[in-house]
Amino acid sequence: MIEIAPSILSADFRRLEEQIATVEHAGASYIHVDVMDGHFVPNLTVGPFIVEWVRKATKLPIDAHLMIEAPENFIGAFARAGANMISVHPEATYHLDRTINQIRQAGCQAGVVLNPATPLAMIEEIIVEVDYVLLMSVNPGFSGQKFIPSSLDKLRRLRDLIRMKFSPARIEIDGGVGPDNAAEIVAAGAEILVAGSAVFGAENPAEALKELLLVVKSAESAKSGGRVMA
Ligand code: DX5
Ligand code: ZN
Repeated sequence: MIEIAPSILSADFRRLEEQIATVEHAGASYIHVDVMDGHFVPNLTVGPFIVEWVRKATKLPIDAHLMIEAPENFIGAFARAGANMISVHPEATYHLDRTINQIRQAGCQAGVVLNPATPLAMIEEIIVEVDYVLLMSVNPGFSGQKFIPSSLDKLRRLRDLIRMKFSPARIEIDGGVGPDNAAEIVAAGAEILVAGSAVFGAENPAEALKELLLVVKSAESAKSGGRVMA
């Protein structure tokens, strides 16, 4: 089943609790939290403290996307704060295999993230060990950027790699996703769609999310040969 993970990076933090409740009721499957350190990416955002508050605001799994150097130093803190999924960038950690194991040992699903210019080869050895691969379709750091079109081809190649390796990994895509391109993104193999500005940037986030879900559902049913998915 294709799922949506709204990113709170585009939310109104003055009323974060209400914004999270809105997307939860409208059909979100996860809450995506973008953690940035001002080193790995040219922006600073939130840490475990905010994840604790997000945890109190929702029953949905929290998908923590760590855009930080040496993420291994913070895995315990994010897990204790209530993250359910933690993903790291291979360029940010010297011993990716160890870091992935640390995430698992902390009781979370483990994900690895590929920047637009990072080749799939970077994760060939680890792909059977991760629960999901997060493909960046913009350069990480900011919401509201344009989807990089070559990401579609990379998505298809990632899907093939996962099949070839018999990996259980799911595919998540992040950056510039919205109702205009969601259908082709689903057709190319993405299973979890992160959406920041397309949801929280809209005048009515609940309606925007429902519209996105409709697009995704019909793309999913087209993919399965027209069978209607529940
Ligand atoms: C970018 C973040 C994204 C961002 C997506 O570095 O990883 O999760 O919030 O925002 P949109 O959907 O607006 O591109
Ligand atoms: Zn993200």
